[in-house]
Amino acid sequence: MRLILTGSIAYDYLMTFPGYFRDHILPDKLDSISLSFLVDGMVKRRGGVAPNIAYTLALLGQHPLILGSVGEDFGDYRAWLEGQGVDTSGIRVIPGEFTASFFANTDRDNNQIASFYPGAMAFDVQLSLGDLEGDCPDLVVISPTDPGAMISYVEEAQTLGIPYLYDPSQQLVRLDGEDVRRGVEGALALCVNDYEFSLVQKSTGMSPLEIRRCVRFLVVTRGEQGATIYAEGEEYRIPIVPPRSVVDPTGVGDAFRGGFLTGYSHGLDWELCGQMGALAATYCLETDGPQSHYYTVAEYVSRFREHFDDDGELGKLGNW
Ligand SMILES: Nc1ncnc2c1ncn2[C@@H]1O[C@H](COP(=O)(O)OP(=O)(O)OP(=O)(O)O)[C@@H](O)[C@H]1O
Ligand SMILES: [Mg+2]
Repeated sequence: MRLILTGSIAYDYLMTFPGYFRDHILPDKLDSISLSFLVDGMVKRRGGVAPNIAYTLALLGQHPLILGSVGEDFGDYRAWLEGQGVDTSGIRVIPGEFTASFFANTDRDNNQIASFYPGAMAFDVQLSLGDLEGDCPDLVVISPTDPGAMISYVEEAQTLGIPYLYDPSQQLVRLDGEDVRRGVEGALALCVNDYEFSLVQKSTGMSPLEIRRCVRFLVVTRGEQGATIYAEGEEYRIPIVPPRSVVDPTGVGDAFRGGFLTGYSHGLDWELCGQMGALAATYCLETDGPQSHYYTVAEYVSRFREHFDDDGELGKLGNW
């Protein structure tokens, strides 16, 4: 299955401040804040929705193509993704720009002061599904990136007749109700968490049933409560896979999508697709960062079978 992932591509710079921001913010000087925090820890992580989803797909033996824009600082990230089996030929470098960067400083109380610089991501709007070389994609995933780009990918996919999974998540707050409605109405599928599902209803004015009728399948993830898949008039409840430890939830939703889409591309039934998402999400939860976890397909399949019965279907991932 030829799978194209669109969505942000970013670096996360995460700092820790060994004190409390509140001790340094002077309420009577709020109109002239000038603060610099000496931090005692910093990590730079590979992030962004499209590579996060791609990473899980690659761990599970898929070779998705990412369509997106990056800056001149992307070289090592590209090499790393290629090394995992991700096709980066759709990632364009914008001269003189930085890759989108998230800078966050967290204090001892978990308060956060952060900035997100879109950089090259603002150029996603210039990319076109029509420019992709090779066979027509079987599925395009439209995930959060520049809102204008998301709108144009929806239009293009509809015009070109390419099925797409609509994954607007964080950018729901930046899209008009009309744009969200157009995105949902032309989609093969919608994937959101339960809060986002309520936002979609509010912004489009559509009822849950209307939304369900628009798409072939709807996936609603519910954090620790698992996920629900609505497809072909049925409802499938997908439980979580209990994590061995909960280290960091960043990227858990993206990992779920990567696992789900692996099952989908192998033509597995809805329940198995959801269960594949649940286990991929749990692996992500157990390490720090969205792309720090690792497993072989054999390890994944063996852990899967501790929790679910696949009747040998996961053999399609390899000879297991
Ligand atoms: N605490 C948990 N324990 C086990 N599995 C979890 C936990 N939290 C989330 N998951 C799994 O991850 C899936 C997606 O989680 P969630 O609904 O929180 O996504 P999200 O809100 O989109 O997350 P993100 O912060 O990545 O955007 C869930 O359906 C579930 O399978
Ligand atoms: Mg999410």
